[in-house]
Amino acid sequence: MGRPGYEAELIALATPFWDAEAEITRRFFAGAPSREDYIRYLKAAVYKELNPVIGYGPTAGYANGLHMEFAALVGRFDGLDRDVARRDMLARLEMMTEEFEHYVVLAEVLELVLGRALTPDDPEQLPEDRKLNDMRRGYVETGDAGLAAVMGLTEGGGSSTFREASKLTGGEIEQHLAAAMKIIHRDEESHYLDAAKTAAAAVGSGDDLERMKRALLEVSIQRVRMRNEMFSEPMSAAEIDRLIADNAP
Ligand SMILES: [Fe+2]
Ligand SMILES: [Fe+2]
Repeated sequence: MGRPGYEAELIALATPFWDAEAEITRRFFAGAPSREDYIRYLKAAVYKELNPVIGYGPTAGYANGLHMEFAALVGRFDGLDRDVARRDMLARLEMMTEEFEHYVVLAEVLELVLGRALTPDDPEQLPEDRKLNDMRRGYVETGDAGLAAVMGLTEGGGSSTFREASKLTGGEIEQHLAAAMKIIHRDEESHYLDAAKTAAAAVGSGDDLERMKRALLEVSIQRVRMRNEMFSEPMSAAEIDRLIADNAP
C-alpha cells in the first residue's frame, strides 16, 4: 500500500467518530440551546483555541498554551539558519496565528452571549477535554514518530463541528457564530488534511500503521466524549457505546 492508501485508511478509521461529532453539533443547535448552554460551550471552545497544541504540556508561567507556544517560537530565532528551518518556523507561526484568530472570533461571540467583556477567568477546560489532552500527550511523549504524527490527524475532529456550525442561521448569536465558524473551518480543514499527509508519510511498516490506528481510534473516541460534554450531552452514553462497538475493530 502506498502513502495515499495509508492516508485514506487512517481517515476512514476516524470518519465514523468525526461524523458523530457532526451529529452532536447538529443536535445541540437543533435543540434550541439556552443561554447557559451557549456559555458552557463557548467558554470551553475559547479555552481550546487558547490551548491548540496537540498534547501540550503544563503551561505554568504562561497565560495559556498559545502564549507558551509563541514564546518557544520567538526563542527559535536564535537557531535561525543554524538548526531551525525557516519554512518550518513560518508554517508554525502561521498556524498559531490562525489559532489566535479562532480564539478572537469565538471570544467575540462569547462576549455577545454574556453581554459583557471577557476576563482571563472565562475560558474553561472541561474534564473530558483534560482527559483528551492527557491521552494525546501520552502518545506525543512516547518519542514514536508515527504516534506523534497521527496525533496531528486528531486535531479538530475532521473539522466536522466547525463545518456544521458554519451553516447555522437564525438569530443574532447564530449568525455571529456561523461567521466565526466559517473562518475556523477554512483553516482547520487544511490543518487536518496536512496532518493526514504527515501521518501517512510517517508509516514505515505494517506494525507502525497498526500502532497508529489503535492510537487514532482511542483519541477519536475520547474526542466524541469531549464534544458531547461541551455541547451538554446531546448523545446518550448508550449511543456512544454503540458507536464504539460498531466501529472498533
Ligand atoms: Fe483552532
Ligand atoms: Fe487548529
